[in-house]
Amino acid sequence: MSKRILITEPIIPSVIEKLKEHFNVDVGKRGAYNTEEALIAAIPDYDAILPMLSNPITEEVIKAGDKLQIVANHAVGYNNIDVEAAHRHKVQVANTPGVLTDSCAEFTLALMLAVGRRLCQAQEYLLAGKFDGWEPLGFLGTELQGSTLGIIGMGRIGQAVAERANALGMDIIYHNRSQLSSDIESQLDADYCSDLKTLIPQADVVSLHCPLTEETRHLVDADMLDLMKDHAILINTSRGPVVDEEALAQALHDGTIGGAGIDVFEEEPKVHPKLKNAPNCLLTPHIASASHKTREDIGMLAAQAIIKILQGNPASEIPNL
Ligand code: DGY
Repeated sequence: MSKRILITEPIIPSVIEKLKEHFNVDVGKRGAYNTEEALIAAIPDYDAILPMLSNPITEEVIKAGDKLQIVANHAVGYNNIDVEAAHRHKVQVANTPGVLTDSCAEFTLALMLAVGRRLCQAQEYLLAGKFDGWEPLGFLGTELQGSTLGIIGMGRIGQAVAERANALGMDIIYHNRSQLSSDIESQLDADYCSDLKTLIPQADVVSLHCPLTEETRHLVDADMLDLMKDHAILINTSRGPVVDEEALAQALHDGTIGGAGIDVFEEEPKVHPKLKNAPNCLLTPHIASASHKTREDIGMLAAQAIIKILQGNPASEIPNL
């Protein structure tokens, strides 16, 4: 009997078609598998699952998957999956590194430019009929050229952001668990700061590109925000809980920082109410990887991992966590 795959919600159709060439595929309704209970009820029927970040793949879910061989996340991040439990139960876990680097880096730059030049506030003003002609003091913002970008987390995406920021004439400093090789540092023209407390006060833009771990939870808290320059911008396209949202909202309302571009939230899909009306705060619904190309690439990489594992190939052939 053909193996069965659960894709927990609709994804790019060509990916679904690819999996259908090999297996019986069910596609859930959007949001139907956002709870542990729904996943536990469904999982015994499936040999593989292709979940979204919003699906909690807990130990209970994995244990209920009697036939489950692989969880292939539709994302590079995998904080929705209990990876250790999967290992204990001999279930493979795959993610999608590499394919979303460019789209996330581009989006990060888009947020920096938009917040730096106050694009959303300017559009709101114009649409409200307040534009009364060119104004010498209207909507003064921060130019990226010549300003200092502090990157926290210098993996693939952090490095891709650095490349693009170089092209805009920014000076780059970074903090990472380990220092990059001197070759990569000189290619990126980036200087290492071993301590966040020395990086943050120097930066005009702070951009987060680290994974969510116990060490990075609330890495940017009230104390770190206090260290930011009063015109500096915070950009978060990594994971919501890396920032203490309450503290960020307070800093924006108090004007102790200049603005924020936030694509990820502490308790998605909830958004802290004080962020929604904070000045110069651009909020987007976790879309840094949302280009047609990248979403197809993400889906195909996850699909290929499922095909390989269910056809008996070794885990070393897939992006394997
Ligand atoms: C990821 O892949 O981890 C992004 O946050 C969503 O594409």
